[in-house]
Amino acid sequence: AEAYPSVKRDSKYKQLSSEDITFFESILSQQELLQANDQDALEFYNEDWMRKYRGQSRLVLRPKTVQKVSQILKYCNDNHIAVVPQGGNTGLVGGSVPIFDEVILSLNYLNQVRDFDPVSGILKCDAGLILENADQYLAEHGYIFPLDLGAKGSCHVGGVVATNAGGLRLLRYGSLHGSVLGLEVVLPNGDIVSSMHALRKDNTGYDLKQLFIGSEGTIGVITGVSILTPPRPKAFNVSFLALENFQAVQNVFVKAKKDLAEILSAFEFMDSYSQDLTKKHVENLNHPFEEEHPFYVLIETSGSNKEHDDAKLEAFLESVIEDGLVVDGVVAQDETELQNLWQWRELIPESAQAGGGVYKYDISLPLKDLYSLVEAANQRLEQVGILGDAPKPVIRAIGYGHVGDGNLHLNVAVREYSKQVEEALEPFVYEFVSSKQGSISAEHGLGFQKKNYIGYTKTGPEIKLIKDLKNHYDPNGILNPYKYI
Ligand code: FAD
Ligand code: MLT
Ligand code: ZN
Repeated sequence: AEAYPSVKRDSKYKQLSSEDITFFESILSQQELLQANDQDALEFYNEDWMRKYRGQSRLVLRPKTVQKVSQILKYCNDNHIAVVPQGGNTGLVGGSVPIFDEVILSLNYLNQVRDFDPVSGILKCDAGLILENADQYLAEHGYIFPLDLGAKGSCHVGGVVATNAGGLRLLRYGSLHGSVLGLEVVLPNGDIVSSMHALRKDNTGYDLKQLFIGSEGTIGVITGVSILTPPRPKAFNVSFLALENFQAVQNVFVKAKKDLAEILSAFEFMDSYSQDLTKKHVENLNHPFEEEHPFYVLIETSGSNKEHDDAKLEAFLESVIEDGLVVDGVVAQDETELQNLWQWRELIPESAQAGGGVYKYDISLPLKDLYSLVEAANQRLEQVGILGDAPKPVIRAIGYGHVGDGNLHLNVAVREYSKQVEEALEPFVYEFVSSKQGSISAEHGLGFQKKNYIGYTKTGPEIKLIKDLKNHYDPNGILNPYKYI
């Protein structure tokens, strides 16, 4: 894990005293409070998913009620104690863990469904509800959560809202800025702002909830979410295709939008390097193709009538093969095959870091330029002499992602984290993205990793407005310090 020589602990934040602990103990049960003598338990909360960032917090608070969240924040605000809000700790930019000794406020125990309306499909839940549990609850009522991602078994509904996660089906269901209808948020001063609306339409002034969607724990703690969920499709199909070049990926995407139209629900791409790493990491799963191909695409359709969808998909596949755009392809014949095909996409993040670590760049670029960044990164790593067999630190730069949304995941798989690799990639990657008018964070946020790089995508006046808002909501700066603001 990384040490942080470039950042200093800000002395304006109070160091925890025994009086502080006594206060927290007075409002929380034993289960809701973890302290330094519970080192193993603290480890999970201090270290991020990539094992790249690690803090030294000695106190984790896991309140079971919104009132307790409010009491905690008010106390911390009055006493200038820094706080890191934490969901499932699956964030990928170092935003969910402390940098120094900040108190961790975990939403783990605020995890209940509050209400579901089977007519409108509106779900109201606590922020700490695990995404997969929310989706399973909805499945029982014939609905689906309008967002899906590889971390669903651990990440929270509140966490995905706090990061404005995009995921695998944004193409179909749009961003959380559209589907979230209301939030309950606790401000640093302890005020509980509740707008848990169940209304599709509400034009009464500023849409305040939007500010908290994607705010990465910097201006308030989300405790409740109201979200519009769509009916669960009755039929799913997944097809896995092999292609010779990235131009073909784009052409197949255009064709999929036209020919599959309303039943297209995911369009993901993977390069051969990403599949190589996944093959090495995963046991007991056969890759759909024996031969290697430079690019693969996973297409999911979902709709209400299996025969209709099958016929559409079949006609589409015949046509892309006939046009020479696709050189090989398979279609899942049952649920197991469908899940297995998805694994070749969803297990890439885990596989990419299995060799020791991973540098992640989550980029929006115009589609035509999307893959050129992976090529440029590999060239650069080769040039500076750090790519290759051990003891060279870099295994490979790989590319995959939500090509349907113009979102590339450039991952640089390494044997260990090192300054040398980081300096070869940063700001190189950000300069490349900025030169093509892209975004340095498509969906993961800025967190700690990209705190110095916001200027590559946002302008000076925009950054000033962001700082003004931060100061307005969190004048003492207690929420998630040292991160991107
Ligand atoms: P955490 O990691 O705990 O926190 C993330 C940030 O939100 C932190 O800044 C934290 O302070 C803040 N936060 C968390 N909860 C709250 C709250 N209740 N109130 C205020 N602030 C809060 N992301 C995508 O966009 N698309 C993907 O496809 C995708 N796939 C992933 C696959 C894997 C295997 C992994 C590990 C991650 C993936 N992610 C993806 C990253 C994504 O950001 C997280 O999975 C998810 O959005 C974070 O949820 P979490 O509950 O774990 O939040
Ligand atoms: C994904 O799409 O798999 C995620 O955003 C995680 C990642 O980028 O590795
Ligand atoms: Zn992603």
